[in-house]
Amino acid sequence: MDEKDFYLDAIRDVVPAHKENEIQHVFYSFLELEHLYDSAIEIVKTQLNIFDNEFSMRFQRNPIHHIESRIKTPQSIVGKLQRKGFPVTPDSARENLMDIAGVRVICCYIDDIYAIANLLTEHSAFSLRKVKDYIKNPKKNGYRSFHMIVDVPVHMSTGKEIAPVEIQIRTIAMDFWASLEHQLHYKSTGNQAVASTLTDELKECAETIASIDHKMQDMFKQINQL
Ligand code: GTP
Ligand code: MG
Repeated sequence: MDEKDFYLDAIRDVVPAHKENEIQHVFYSFLELEHLYDSAIEIVKTQLNIFDNEFSMRFQRNPIHHIESRIKTPQSIVGKLQRKGFPVTPDSARENLMDIAGVRVICCYIDDIYAIANLLTEHSAFSLRKVKDYIKNPKKNGYRSFHMIVDVPVHMSTGKEIAPVEIQIRTIAMDFWASLEHQLHYKSTGNQAVASTLTDELKECAETIASIDHKMQDMFKQINQL
């Protein structure tokens, strides 16, 4: 099923069938929503690249290793709204879902994470909605990353719109760990005993990785003092 059919079906579930013009209207609003969040992602990525290029010019190094981004699929937007018992409308998605737009910043060192987070916090156009520091307070499973929800202004021909963007900032090592943990999470419905052993092993790996991240950071500082 393509994106349009999916939205139309989901909308038909909540809008009475005889109001076909209303369904088209809601669909168009979802398209506008996608454009808004896509634009907000581009703005955040551009700003991150500006910071990275400035560091490169001033200090001959790049704090950002690479940037990834994604916009939540229509299936996932509708699914999450339904799961959480929110109305399936574009307005409800804007109000209730803070992770429609996601940007992941992969840094080299832990200090780079906080440097980037501080620059984003101090950015006068962005307004900070929420912070979760899973580096200072790792999750039980060992997950580490710095999460921020930032309100980003997007200027359209019709005026200014605000879109929240979820920004996850982590080191290469944290990212390596999170991608394996993510796979386990989605495949662990099969063999519970193996999954539980792997969970313990992953937790151990998270601690090892954290210790390596700190060592690499220390060594980097020492190398710079040579
Ligand atoms: P959701 O409702 O799931 O979006 O999350 P939340 O409101 O609890 O937010 P949180 O900031 O904790 O997590 C948001 C995102 O961070 C997730 O969608 C993942 O991308 C990532 N994340 C959080 N916890 C984990 C974890 O334990 N493992 C992995 N691999 N990723 C995680
Ligand atoms: Mg999420």
